[in-house]
Amino acid sequence: MSKTPIRVAVTGAAGQISYSLLFRIASGAMFGPDQPVVLQLIEVPFEKAMKALEGVAMELDDCAFPLLKGMVLTDDPKVGFKDANWSLLVGAKPRGPGMERADLLKDNGKIFTAQGKIIDEVAADNARVAVVGNPANTNCMIAASQAKRLTADRFTAMVRLDQNRAQAQLAKKAGVDLTEVANIFIYGNHSPTMFPAFKHATIGGKPAVEVIGDKDWLRGPFCETVGKRGAAIIAARGLSSAASAANALVDHVRDLMTPGKIHSVAVKSEGRYGFDANVWAGMPVKTTTPGSYEVIEGYDMCDFAKSKLAATNQELVEERAAVADML
Ligand code: NAD
Ligand code: LMR
Repeated sequence: MSKTPIRVAVTGAAGQISYSLLFRIASGAMFGPDQPVVLQLIEVPFEKAMKALEGVAMELDDCAFPLLKGMVLTDDPKVGFKDANWSLLVGAKPRGPGMERADLLKDNGKIFTAQGKIIDEVAADNARVAVVGNPANTNCMIAASQAKRLTADRFTAMVRLDQNRAQAQLAKKAGVDLTEVANIFIYGNHSPTMFPAFKHATIGGKPAVEVIGDKDWLRGPFCETVGKRGAAIIAARGLSSAASAANALVDHVRDLMTPGKIHSVAVKSEGRYGFDANVWAGMPVKTTTPGSYEVIEGYDMCDFAKSKLAATNQELVEERAAVADML
C-alpha cells in the first residue's frame, strides 16, 4: 500500500532557490524514492509572482513525477501552511552586492512573525519548519517566538550550505575525494562569523589538521572562504546562491528525516557550546527519529575555537536585540 503523502509548504515558490528545489522534492530526493508528496506553494499576492508560480507548476506537471500527488498554489499563507508536515521558509528578499545578511533583518523579519503564527495555527501536529530566508538564524528565532502549540525544537534554520562548502574546501586543499572528508560542523550564525570547527574533522579517517598540515590556513583562509562564500557568489553571479542553497535544503531535511545522521543544523541553543540560551545557533545534531534530533555536546574547543564561538554568539545576540520588538 502506498504511503500517505507528506505535505510540504514552500514559501518563495516562484523564486530562484525554489526553481531548483521543487523539482528535487517532487522527484523524491528529499523524502525518499517511495514517499509521495503534495507541494503547497506560497507566493506574495502580486500578479507577476502568481503568474510565475503558475509557470513553475506547469513545469512540475510536465515532469510527470510519479511521487507528486498534488499541488496547491496560493498567496494566502493560511491555505498554504494548512496541515503542512514540513514548512520550508525560503521566501524573503536576498541581499545584493555590498550588503551583509543582517541588513535584511528589518525587511525580512516581519515576514517570519506572520508565518510563525500561522504555521502554529494551521500546520499538522507533527509540523517541522526549516528557515532559509536570511538572516536565517534570527528569522527562525522570530518564527519560533510566535508559536504556542509547536515547541521550539520544531524550528530549525539552515547552515548546511556552509557545511557543504567547508567539506568541499577541505577536500580541495587536501587533494582528495570529497567523500574522504567527515565530521566538519558549522557553529553559530549563517554569516561571515560562523565557525567551521576543523579540529574534529577527519580526512580519510585521520585528523584534518594533520592531513592539511597548515594550521594557519585552517584558521585564516579556510574559515574566511567558507564564511564569505555567499558574498563571493553574489560578486561572481550578480545573484545569490540558488542551486547550492536548494541542494543544501534537500540535505538538511533529508538528514533530519533519517535516524542516525549527524549534521549541522541551527537550533535553539539552550546554552550549549556557550551560546546564549535563546538564540538559534548552528551546531552538530544527531537525528533520533524522523524530524527529531539531539545536539551532540561532547566536542571540546581550544581557545581559538572558543573566541570564534564567542564572536558568532555576540552577533546573534545583537541581531536578537535589533528585532526585540518582533519577538
Ligand atoms: P528570490 O528573490 O529569487 O525569491 C524569493 C521569492 O520569495 C520571491 O519570488 C518573492 O516573491 C517571494 N516572497 C517574498 N516574501 C514572501 C512572503 N512573505 N511569502 C511568500 N513568498 C515571498 O530569492 P532567492 O534567491 O530564492 O532567496 C530567498 C532567500 O534565501 C533570500 O533571503 C536569500 O538571502 C536566502 N538564502 C539563504 C541561504 C542559506 O544558506 N540560508 C542561501 C541562499 C539564499
Ligand atoms: C549564501 O550563503 O549563499 C546565502 O546566504 C546568500 C547570501 O546572501 O550570502
